[in-house]
Amino acid sequence: MRSTSFFFALSLAALTLAQDTSLAEVKRAFDVALIPGNISMVFEPQVLLEVTFSQPSAKPITLRAGRQLLRNETAGPPIFNVIGARSKGPFVVATVDLDAPTPQTRTSAQIRHFLGGNFFLETPRAPTLLTNKTVALSPFRQPTPPAGSDPHRYVFLLFDQSNDFNGQTLVTANTSISNFNISSFASATKLGQPIGGTFMLVGPQAA
Ligand SMILES: *[C@@H]1O[C@H](CO)[C@@H](O)[C@H](O)[C@H]1NC(C)=O
Ligand SMILES: *[C@@H]1O[C@H](CO)[C@@H](O)[C@H](O)[C@H]1NC(C)=O
Ligand SMILES: *[C@@H]1O[C@H](CO)[C@@H](O)[C@H](O)[C@H]1NC(C)=O
Ligand SMILES: *[C@@H]1O[C@H](CO)[C@@H](O)[C@H](O)[C@H]1NC(C)=O
Ligand SMILES: *[C@@H]1O[C@H](CO)[C@@H](O)[C@H](O)[C@H]1NC(C)=O
Repeated sequence: MRSTSFFFALSLAALTLAQDTSLAEVKRAFDVALIPGNISMVFEPQVLLEVTFSQPSAKPITLRAGRQLLRNETAGPPIFNVIGARSKGPFVVATVDLDAPTPQTRTSAQIRHFLGGNFFLETPRAPTLLTNKTVALSPFRQPTPPAGSDPHRYVFLLFDQSNDFNGQTLVTANTSISNFNISSFASATKLGQPIGGTFMLVGPQAA
């Protein structure tokens, strides 16, 4: 009896530490990390965006906003789940590094690490899993902070897809991933403000 409740408490604690469960906590984590100011966007999450990295020989890792991962745990591409969605899509997901080349000198930020649209929820088979119906505009790039850098903030944002998104020409296969601006991209393609998000910290690979 005693040990059962002990393990129950333990697994509850592990659950709450493992991933985002509260919109208010995600918003607070974004605010504490100064992310809304850095991306020039309002962040009022309405849904939870779960970002999961599979691991070669361990359990998959689902982010909790602000969690630090080892670089080698972020090979990706990650899979995305949305908790609390009001539609089946389409959705756009964007991932940006705010701290390139270093958090102290953010001259090439934002770096675009992922930009993809036409993500849908396939209810009832997988009611929270996002499935893409087209290839990404920018395929996922693993974080690669330069040696000696402090950890970078890698921010994942979810948008309701606009009618303009599929016709946009701002980002093509040839567009530099450096000095991207998710706020001006979202404004130009009428994505509006993000409806969800999360972020991770990743430093250079330990020697
Ligand atoms: C952007 O984030 C950095 C912390 O990395 C902070 O020093 C700076 O004030 C932020 N800028 C804005 C406009 O919020
Ligand atoms: C990542 O590197 C650490 C050592 O820095 C190692 O302990 C761990 O097993 C590695 N993980 C993966 C997924 O390669
Ligand atoms: C979905 O994205 C993956 C890469 O993450 C890509 O390999 C696949 O072709 C895409 N699916 C479709 C239908 O385009
Ligand atoms: C990208 O550039 C290559 C040559 O530099 C060109 O052939 C190709 O059409 C370009 N693709 C797009 C989408 O602009
Ligand atoms: C991104 O664009 C917004 C306007 O949409 C601007 O206010 C902001 O300063 C730009 N951010 C960067 C890092 O250039």
